[in-house]
Amino acid sequence: MYPNNSSQKSCIFMGNLSLGTLFFLRLENAFLLAEKGSFIEVISCFGNLENDLKMWCAFKGEAFIHKVAIAKNSNKDNFLYLLQKQSPKRFQKFDANSHIAPFGHGLAPNGVLVESASPHYPFTYMNDNELYNGNFTQIYEDSKKSQWNASNDIKWKDIPSFSPAMEFAIAQIMTYLTENEFSALYIPARFLGQISPFFTTAPLLLSSIIGDEARHIEAFIKRANVTGLGVQYSTIATQQSLFSLFKETNYFKSSFLLHIMGEGTFIDLLKFLEESFEGLGDSASAELFYLARRDESRHVAYGMNNVKHTIAENPAKIATLKEVVFERKNYLNAQSGESSLLLESLALLRGGGEEFISRGYEEVLELKKKMEKNRTKRLVECGIDEELAYDLSRAHTPNFM
Ligand SMILES: [Fe+2]
Ligand SMILES: [Fe+2]
Repeated sequence: MYPNNSSQKSCIFMGNLSLGTLFFLRLENAFLLAEKGSFIEVISCFGNLENDLKMWCAFKGEAFIHKVAIAKNSNKDNFLYLLQKQSPKRFQKFDANSHIAPFGHGLAPNGVLVESASPHYPFTYMNDNELYNGNFTQIYEDSKKSQWNASNDIKWKDIPSFSPAMEFAIAQIMTYLTENEFSALYIPARFLGQISPFFTTAPLLLSSIIGDEARHIEAFIKRANVTGLGVQYSTIATQQSLFSLFKETNYFKSSFLLHIMGEGTFIDLLKFLEESFEGLGDSASAELFYLARRDESRHVAYGMNNVKHTIAENPAKIATLKEVVFERKNYLNAQSGESSLLLESLALLRGGGEEFISRGYEEVLELKKKMEKNRTKRLVECGIDEELAYDLSRAHTPNFM
């Protein structure tokens, strides 16, 4: 009758707590967490609880075993009421290493015990094949160490003023960057709510990416404002390119387009801008691009690991990527070409003024070649063969993201 194994037994010391809400709340909780068949000792100063406890047990489907007087405490006896849990356990333990998120896991973190009949959330991503998490923790840790504040960490007051043509070019580039950053913010944000928190590090990492993008948006708008012009023109070329990215509803494809093709290319662009501002003697802006690039490198590393792992597990996935790149290319070919405003602004900035715009334009063309080459390199690193990587890279949007 009585367990030999002490793990099958728990004890609640009620002392002089009289029968009432708190007494029954504690009793309920003891039964809630106990295993079926385990014993629960209720220790009380009162010797007259037997009938009430018997009624409670009968009502709850539990068993009252016996009552005994135990050791003297001052001048009073203590009483031990022995009860046994007969109802099934209501908390379910899941395998924390499972590749599939359990239904009814809700918004709880990995490792919890979930009460049965908890609501089922309609998460789309319930399988870690779709969210390889090999490097989530490391990137999340790197992200925490590399946070910066767009208000205080950029020497805004040291930014020099330039000719009206140069100020416009800078404001236009910042406008373009801000739009692209919004795309990099909205896409992971949309997927975030579709991922089960059973894969706890995934939503944390996506949140850190979203936080980074918010900071980039803030910083680029601030830099546009320093020109005295504020944000300028949003072109159809950028709008269509970002829309074709935004409307992709599959996480794997979207992550590939955004983190590898888009942000990978952006790393080269941010480096180009960093050098250009350095060339203009504006080291405060150069620092801004360095910090933004450091954040983007983490996003690209996350995406590359994700895609690399998925391709290694299932090489047939390469066909999916090929399909999505060419679908997007066909869509964009029919819609729009390059953003001429962006290209002229980049050429003027890089040249260092209108008189050197031709030289600047040559360097923009060099940048595009470098972007294409680096994209190919990243694709090869993900496990795509060189020839296809080259074709995919060439088919990437002229908007860069
Ligand atoms: Fe960004
Ligand atoms: Fe990013």
